[in-house]
Amino acid sequence: MLLEGLKRLEYRGYDSAGLAVIQDGAIQSEKVVGRVSQLDELVDDRFTGVLGIAHTRWATHGGVTVPNAHPHFDEKHRIALVHNGIIENYHALRELLLKKGHKIVSETDSELIAHLIAEYMDGNVVAAIQRALTHLEGTFGLLILTLEDPNRLIAVRQGSPLVLGIGDNEYFAASDVSAFAQHTRQVVYLRDGEMAELTPTGYRTMTFADRTVVRRPDEITWEIDAIEKGGYDHFMLKEIFEQPSALRNTLAARVRADQGLARLGGITAYSDDQLRSLERVIISACGTAWHAALVGEYMLEELARVPTEVEYASEFRYRNPIVGEETLAIFISQSGETADTLAALREAKAKGAHVMGICNVVGSTIATEAGTGSYTHAGPEIGVASTKAFTTQMAVMTILALQLGHLRNLSLETYSTILNDLVKIPDLIERVLETDPQVREIVPIFEHTTNCLYLGRGINFPIALEGALKMKEISYVHAEGYPAAEMKHGPIALIDENMPVVVIAIQDPVYDKVISNIEEIRARKGRIIAIATEGDDRIASKVEKAIYVPRVAPLLTPFLTVVPLQLLAYHVAAAKGCDIDKPRNLAKSVTVE
Ligand code: AGP
Repeated sequence: MLLEGLKRLEYRGYDSAGLAVIQDGAIQSEKVVGRVSQLDELVDDRFTGVLGIAHTRWATHGGVTVPNAHPHFDEKHRIALVHNGIIENYHALRELLLKKGHKIVSETDSELIAHLIAEYMDGNVVAAIQRALTHLEGTFGLLILTLEDPNRLIAVRQGSPLVLGIGDNEYFAASDVSAFAQHTRQVVYLRDGEMAELTPTGYRTMTFADRTVVRRPDEITWEIDAIEKGGYDHFMLKEIFEQPSALRNTLAARVRADQGLARLGGITAYSDDQLRSLERVIISACGTAWHAALVGEYMLEELARVPTEVEYASEFRYRNPIVGEETLAIFISQSGETADTLAALREAKAKGAHVMGICNVVGSTIATEAGTGSYTHAGPEIGVASTKAFTTQMAVMTILALQLGHLRNLSLETYSTILNDLVKIPDLIERVLETDPQVREIVPIFEHTTNCLYLGRGINFPIALEGALKMKEISYVHAEGYPAAEMKHGPIALIDENMPVVVIAIQDPVYDKVISNIEEIRARKGRIIAIATEGDDRIASKVEKAIYVPRVAPLLTPFLTVVPLQLLAYHVAAAKGCDIDKPRNLAKSVTVE
């Protein structure tokens, strides 16, 4: 059960793994550097106990070694724990424990917690843990077992996700529901500052000060096979092809073209007057979500004419941002657990901004702390490279821009045009997915290259960035996204016959300018791949390969132009034999700084 659960969590981080089980009055454990499958090989019939913990690691403190792998123990091997997060006061704690004579065997911050609990252990496990927690600064999702009380598992949540599974006389705790979803659909999301004790006969949730908190179980709705590959070689490919259905779920109940309706339910906390009088929007996120934020900026400024700025969350949180009650601060995060984005949200709230979360994971920390916002309803996104979450994030931003625009000065004609095209997007993406064979034909151009450029203008500039990120993160080919016109101010020096250039050349108001950029690249023998509009009969003679997408309102072209770029990154990575769903050095949810 523990190994099965780890396999479902492996996408979150996977450089080493381990488990511990209480067995015949002792703690049996195994740890390996490598994948869960390697741990599986070591687990034998020593492990038949019914209370255990397990962990797959994404290194933050200390190298990828067996001693640094979790679980971690106190000296007497009577306490075992696994930890997700970062202990900020790690150095001070380590000094304190060394002075007290503790033998610390790893480089990790996590191990210190086990020694700290041992310091306070006097028979009452929960009290000892609660006292130890008062010393910790930073983030910690913990699962703890002890020989002191061999039938009690303790779960602790502070800044890292932790959810309980309430089964029939069996209880689970994990960072993510998918670890135990095949055993129970009854879940309890712990909140920060909460912990739980699980025994074979029940569970209790309480604060770190031991005040009982009643948490009713929620029922999870998506099917188990949603976390299987569904016949695709990789989760990423499945999720690329799921985008039409994911978007239909995102649009459902929020957009009705026949009724001229575009409305997000999750922002009813703000009155129409408040939304009408908004002076400024800031959108903050990381990685692909940041690219969705950039698309959102174009949408909000074009449709709602509200000044919008986009900030990297990691920058926003430390720059003493100028936000206040006149600002709507939006935080986009697929996992809802990204540490930088969460910290940026807290900073904006502390400064009095109105906030809104756009997340994909129900009950995630960012969604919970934002309080107001919308879920993207993309379903579980397992592949580390974000795809369906990205397009559904753009869909939520489009609905928001339409809703705000409708309240402000957006013409009914533009509103209707965009709304009518928006509802067609899922079908139009189905058509773009049919270009998959043409995209595969492009792979040889990239298979042996080490550098490439992605160019786009206007609302397709963020798509150039996103296409480049996809290529980087799964095929390890260095790719750089640039505004097409900006190429002349430096990157054009890179252009030669070895430099593939992907140009988004949609027939939109800046098409002729992009064609000029293409000519500049051709003059320097660059190899050009264009993402163009169906029916464009000019571009084929100017580029080496063109992938055509259906014609749609220019503002909505990002939904279509990103799909061939997702497929291109996928097929190049597959051709190079890369580990597509678990790229090296990455994790699906970066819950540490
Ligand atoms: C995207 O493909 C990457 N996996 C990464 O940039 C990701 O978008 C980023 O870490 C933000 O994650 P979030 O949406 O869960 O906050």
